[in-house]
Amino acid sequence: MFKLVILVSAIACVLGGIVPEGLSPQIDGRIVGGNEGNIIQYPYLVSIQRNGQHVCGGSIYSNNIVVTAAHCLQKVSTNDLRVRAGSSTWNTGGILSNVYSYRNHEGYNPTTMENDVAIIRLSSYLTYSTSISRINLLTWSPSNGASAVVVGWGTTSYNGGISNNLRYIDVSIISTAQCASSAYRYGSSIKSDMICAFAAGKDACQKDSGGPLVSGGYLTGIVSWGYGCAYDGYPGVYTDVAQVRTWIVNNANSI
Ligand code: ARG
Repeated sequence: MFKLVILVSAIACVLGGIVPEGLSPQIDGRIVGGNEGNIIQYPYLVSIQRNGQHVCGGSIYSNNIVVTAAHCLQKVSTNDLRVRAGSSTWNTGGILSNVYSYRNHEGYNPTTMENDVAIIRLSSYLTYSTSISRINLLTWSPSNGASAVVVGWGTTSYNGGISNNLRYIDVSIISTAQCASSAYRYGSSIKSDMICAFAAGKDACQKDSGGPLVSGGYLTGIVSWGYGCAYDGYPGVYTDVAQVRTWIVNNANSI
Protein backbone atom coordinates (compact mmCIF):
# COMPACT_ATOMS: atom_id res chain seq x y z
CA MET A 1 0.00 0.00 0.00
CA PHE A 2 2.75 2.43 0.99
CA LYS A 3 4.71 1.59 -2.19
CA LEU A 4 1.58 2.19 -4.26
CA VAL A 5 1.15 5.65 -2.74
CA ILE A 6 4.77 6.51 -3.60
CA LEU A 7 4.35 5.22 -7.14
CA VAL A 8 1.12 7.14 -7.72
CA SER A 9 2.55 10.38 -6.40
CA ALA A 10 5.72 9.92 -8.51
CA ILE A 11 3.58 9.61 -11.65
CA ALA A 12 1.52 12.65 -10.66
CA CYS A 13 4.74 14.56 -10.15
CA VAL A 14 6.14 13.63 -13.57
CA LEU A 15 2.83 14.43 -15.25
CA GLY A 16 2.74 17.75 -13.40
CA GLY A 17 6.03 18.55 -15.06
CA ILE A 18 5.07 17.64 -18.62
CA VAL A 19 1.44 18.73 -18.96
CA PRO A 20 1.76 22.10 -20.69
CA GLU A 21 0.45 25.01 -18.68
CA GLY A 22 -2.88 26.19 -19.91
CA LEU A 23 -3.95 22.67 -20.76
CA SER A 24 -4.58 21.72 -17.17
CA PRO A 25 -8.28 21.13 -16.52
CA GLN A 26 -10.36 24.27 -16.10
CA ILE A 27 -13.12 24.01 -13.56
CA ASP A 28 -16.13 25.88 -14.91
CA GLY A 29 -17.52 28.70 -12.77
CA ARG A 30 -17.53 32.49 -12.38
CA ILE A 31 -15.01 35.17 -11.39
CA VAL A 32 -13.42 31.79 -12.08
CA GLY A 33 -15.01 29.05 -9.97
CA GLY A 34 -17.13 31.45 -7.87
CA ASN A 35 -20.74 32.17 -6.96
CA GLU A 36 -23.08 35.11 -7.40
CA GLY A 37 -23.20 37.44 -4.41
CA ASN A 38 -25.07 40.55 -3.29
CA ILE A 39 -23.51 44.03 -2.96
CA ILE A 40 -24.84 44.19 0.63
CA GLN A 41 -22.17 41.66 1.53
CA TYR A 42 -19.45 43.66 -0.30
CA PRO A 43 -20.66 47.30 -0.02
CA TYR A 44 -17.11 48.62 -0.60
CA LEU A 45 -16.99 47.13 -4.13
CA VAL A 46 -17.39 49.41 -7.17
CA SER A 47 -17.31 48.90 -10.92
CA ILE A 48 -14.95 51.17 -12.85
CA GLN A 49 -16.25 51.90 -16.32
CA ARG A 50 -14.64 53.29 -19.41
CA ASN A 51 -16.95 54.57 -22.15
CA GLY A 52 -19.84 52.69 -20.56
CA GLN A 53 -18.04 49.36 -20.30
CA HIS A 54 -16.98 47.69 -17.07
CA VAL A 55 -13.18 47.45 -17.12
CA CYS A 56 -12.06 46.99 -13.52
CA GLY A 57 -13.14 46.70 -9.93
CA GLY A 58 -12.30 49.07 -7.11
CA SER A 59 -12.84 49.62 -3.40
CA ILE A 60 -14.35 52.60 -1.55
CA TYR A 61 -11.71 54.21 0.68
CA SER A 62 -13.75 57.28 1.64
CA ASN A 63 -16.95 58.92 0.42
CA ASN A 64 -15.14 60.39 -2.58
CA ILE A 65 -12.01 58.21 -3.02
CA VAL A 66 -11.81 54.78 -4.65
CA VAL A 67 -8.74 52.51 -4.65
CA THR A 68 -7.96 50.44 -7.75
CA ALA A 69 -5.01 49.16 -9.81
CA ALA A 70 -2.71 51.47 -11.81
CA HIS A 71 -2.89 49.17 -14.82
CA CYS A 72 -6.64 49.95 -15.01
CA LEU A 73 -6.05 53.65 -15.60
CA GLN A 74 -3.40 53.88 -18.29
CA LYS A 75 -3.99 56.53 -20.95
CA VAL A 76 -7.58 57.28 -20.04
CA SER A 77 -9.33 60.64 -19.83
CA THR A 78 -11.38 61.35 -16.69
CA ASN A 79 -14.28 62.24 -19.04
CA ASP A 80 -14.45 58.63 -20.20
CA LEU A 81 -14.53 57.20 -16.66
CA ARG A 82 -17.52 56.43 -14.43
CA VAL A 83 -17.73 54.56 -11.14
CA ARG A 84 -20.82 52.59 -10.13
CA ALA A 85 -21.33 51.97 -6.40
CA GLY A 86 -24.13 50.25 -4.52
CA SER A 87 -25.23 47.70 -7.09
CA SER A 88 -24.76 43.95 -7.51
CA THR A 89 -24.94 44.47 -11.27
CA TRP A 90 -22.25 46.53 -12.99
CA ASN A 91 -24.57 48.02 -15.64
CA THR A 92 -27.69 48.99 -13.63
CA GLY A 93 -28.70 50.41 -10.25
CA GLY A 94 -26.84 52.07 -7.40
CA ILE A 95 -25.07 55.39 -8.04
CA LEU A 96 -23.07 56.13 -11.18
CA SER A 97 -20.49 58.85 -10.42
CA ASN A 98 -18.30 60.95 -12.65
CA VAL A 99 -14.58 61.14 -12.02
CA TYR A 100 -12.91 64.40 -10.96
CA SER A 101 -9.32 63.09 -11.14
CA TYR A 102 -7.21 60.00 -10.69
CA ARG A 103 -3.60 59.27 -9.81
CA ASN A 104 -1.47 56.23 -10.58
CA HIS A 105 1.41 55.31 -8.27
CA GLU A 106 4.54 57.00 -9.67
CA GLY A 107 6.44 53.74 -9.19
CA TYR A 108 3.98 51.61 -11.18
CA ASN A 109 6.04 49.43 -13.48
CA PRO A 110 4.05 47.82 -16.31
CA THR A 111 6.80 45.26 -16.93
CA THR A 112 7.17 43.95 -13.39
CA MET A 113 3.71 45.13 -12.19
CA GLU A 114 5.24 46.64 -9.05
CA ASN A 115 3.23 49.38 -7.33
CA ASP A 116 0.03 48.45 -9.17
CA VAL A 117 -2.20 50.87 -7.24
CA ALA A 118 -4.15 53.99 -8.13
CA ILE A 119 -6.77 56.23 -6.57
CA ILE A 120 -9.78 57.89 -8.13
CA ARG A 121 -11.47 61.02 -6.80
CA LEU A 122 -15.18 61.09 -7.57
CA SER A 123 -16.86 64.32 -8.72
CA SER A 124 -19.50 64.01 -5.99
CA TYR A 125 -19.70 62.44 -2.54
CA LEU A 126 -21.23 59.01 -2.03
CA THR A 127 -23.92 58.62 0.60
CA TYR A 128 -23.21 55.54 2.67
CA SER A 129 -25.98 52.94 2.95
CA THR A 130 -26.34 49.19 3.37
CA SER A 131 -24.97 48.79 -0.16
CA ILE A 132 -22.32 51.57 -0.11
CA SER A 133 -19.61 51.79 2.54
CA ARG A 134 -15.89 52.29 2.98
CA ILE A 135 -13.36 49.62 3.89
CA ASN A 136 -10.26 50.04 6.07
CA LEU A 137 -6.81 49.31 4.72
CA LEU A 138 -4.83 46.50 6.35
CA THR A 139 -1.68 47.92 7.96
CA TRP A 140 0.34 44.70 8.12
CA SER A 141 1.03 42.07 5.48
CA PRO A 142 -1.39 39.16 5.98
CA SER A 143 -0.15 35.83 7.25
CA ASN A 144 0.28 32.85 5.00
CA GLY A 145 -2.90 30.74 4.98
CA ALA A 146 -5.26 33.51 6.15
CA SER A 147 -8.72 33.20 4.62
CA ALA A 148 -9.94 35.92 2.29
CA VAL A 149 -12.57 36.72 -0.29
CA VAL A 150 -12.16 38.17 -3.79
CA VAL A 151 -15.12 39.77 -5.52
CA GLY A 152 -15.78 41.28 -8.93
CA TRP A 153 -17.55 41.25 -12.28
CA GLY A 154 -14.59 39.84 -14.21
CA THR A 155 -14.47 37.10 -16.77
CA THR A 156 -15.68 33.69 -15.70
CA SER A 157 -12.87 31.93 -17.55
CA TYR A 158 -9.61 33.04 -19.14
CA ASN A 159 -10.60 34.93 -22.34
CA GLY A 160 -14.28 34.40 -21.43
CA GLY A 161 -17.11 36.92 -20.90
CA ILE A 162 -17.71 39.10 -17.85
CA SER A 163 -20.54 38.56 -15.38
CA ASN A 164 -23.50 40.99 -15.05
CA ASN A 165 -23.88 40.12 -11.38
CA LEU A 166 -20.91 40.29 -9.03
CA ARG A 167 -19.29 37.00 -8.08
CA TYR A 168 -17.08 36.01 -5.20
CA ILE A 169 -14.56 33.33 -4.31
CA ASP A 170 -13.13 32.26 -0.97
CA VAL A 171 -9.35 31.89 -1.13
CA SER A 172 -6.31 31.45 1.12
CA ILE A 173 -3.57 34.06 1.26
CA ILE A 174 -0.10 32.98 0.16
CA SER A 175 2.63 35.17 1.63
CA THR A 176 5.15 36.93 -0.61
CA ALA A 177 7.91 34.48 0.36
CA GLN A 178 5.76 31.40 -0.17
CA CYS A 179 4.44 32.66 -3.50
CA ALA A 180 7.99 33.25 -4.77
CA SER A 181 9.13 29.82 -3.51
CA SER A 182 9.35 26.62 -5.53
CA ALA A 183 5.92 25.62 -4.20
CA TYR A 184 4.58 27.78 -7.08
CA ARG A 185 5.85 28.69 -10.52
CA TYR A 186 6.30 32.47 -10.47
CA GLY A 187 9.70 32.55 -8.75
CA SER A 188 11.37 35.98 -8.79
CA SER A 189 8.44 37.61 -10.63
CA ILE A 190 6.86 37.96 -7.19
CA LYS A 191 8.14 41.26 -5.81
CA SER A 192 8.08 42.51 -2.22
CA ASP A 193 4.86 44.52 -2.68
CA MET A 194 2.92 41.49 -3.99
CA ILE A 195 0.98 38.77 -2.21
CA CYS A 196 -0.90 35.84 -3.72
CA ALA A 197 -4.14 34.00 -3.02
CA PHE A 198 -5.22 30.54 -4.03
CA ALA A 199 -8.10 28.07 -3.99
CA ALA A 200 -8.19 25.06 -6.33
CA GLY A 201 -10.10 25.92 -9.50
CA LYS A 202 -10.87 29.46 -8.28
CA ASP A 203 -9.21 32.75 -9.20
CA ALA A 204 -9.73 36.35 -10.09
CA CYS A 205 -9.59 36.88 -13.85
CA GLN A 206 -9.61 39.65 -16.47
CA LYS A 207 -11.61 42.75 -15.44
CA ASP A 208 -11.52 41.74 -11.78
CA SER A 209 -8.38 43.87 -11.70
CA GLY A 210 -8.29 46.72 -9.24
CA GLY A 211 -10.91 44.95 -7.13
CA PRO A 212 -10.65 43.89 -3.50
CA LEU A 213 -9.03 40.94 -1.76
CA VAL A 214 -10.50 41.18 1.73
CA SER A 215 -9.31 39.36 4.85
CA GLY A 216 -10.69 39.88 8.34
CA GLY A 217 -12.80 42.78 7.09
CA TYR A 218 -9.78 44.76 5.82
CA LEU A 219 -8.71 45.59 2.29
CA THR A 220 -5.70 43.30 2.05
CA GLY A 221 -4.94 43.11 -1.65
CA ILE A 222 -5.76 44.67 -5.02
CA VAL A 223 -6.32 42.28 -7.94
CA SER A 224 -3.23 42.79 -10.12
CA TRP A 225 -2.12 39.91 -12.35
CA GLY A 226 -1.74 36.18 -12.89
CA TYR A 227 -0.65 33.69 -15.52
CA GLY A 228 -3.98 32.71 -17.10
CA CYS A 229 -6.71 32.31 -14.49
CA ALA A 230 -6.89 29.40 -12.03
CA TYR A 231 -4.01 27.60 -13.76
CA ASP A 232 -2.15 25.01 -11.70
CA GLY A 233 0.86 26.45 -9.91
CA TYR A 234 -0.09 30.05 -10.75
CA PRO A 235 -2.17 31.65 -8.00
CA GLY A 236 -3.68 35.12 -8.37
CA VAL A 237 -1.23 37.94 -7.63
CA TYR A 238 -2.34 41.01 -5.68
CA THR A 239 -0.79 44.31 -4.67
CA ASP A 240 -0.06 44.01 -0.94
CA VAL A 241 -2.15 46.86 0.48
CA ALA A 242 0.03 47.14 3.60
CA GLN A 243 3.01 47.96 1.34
CA VAL A 244 1.22 50.76 -0.53
CA ARG A 245 -0.94 51.98 2.35
CA THR A 246 1.11 55.11 3.03
CA TRP A 247 0.93 56.08 -0.63
CA ILE A 248 -2.88 55.66 -0.61
CA VAL A 249 -3.36 57.66 2.61
CA ASN A 250 -1.05 60.51 1.54
CA ASN A 251 -2.37 60.78 -2.00
CA ALA A 252 -6.03 60.57 -0.97
CA ASN A 253 -5.39 63.77 0.98
CA SER A 254 -3.79 65.62 -1.91
CA ILE A 255 -5.54 64.47 -5.08
N1 ARG B 1 -4.83 41.82 -15.09
C1 ARG B 1 -6.17 41.34 -15.06
C2 ARG B 1 -7.13 42.50 -15.28
O1 ARG B 1 -6.75 43.46 -15.88
C3 ARG B 1 -6.50 40.61 -13.79
C4 ARG B 1 -5.64 39.47 -13.61
C5 ARG B 1 -5.93 38.66 -12.44
N2 ARG B 1 -5.58 37.35 -12.85
C6 ARG B 1 -5.55 36.32 -12.07
N3 ARG B 1 -5.27 35.17 -12.61
N4 ARG B 1 -5.79 36.41 -10.80
O2 ARG B 1 -8.30 42.42 -15.01
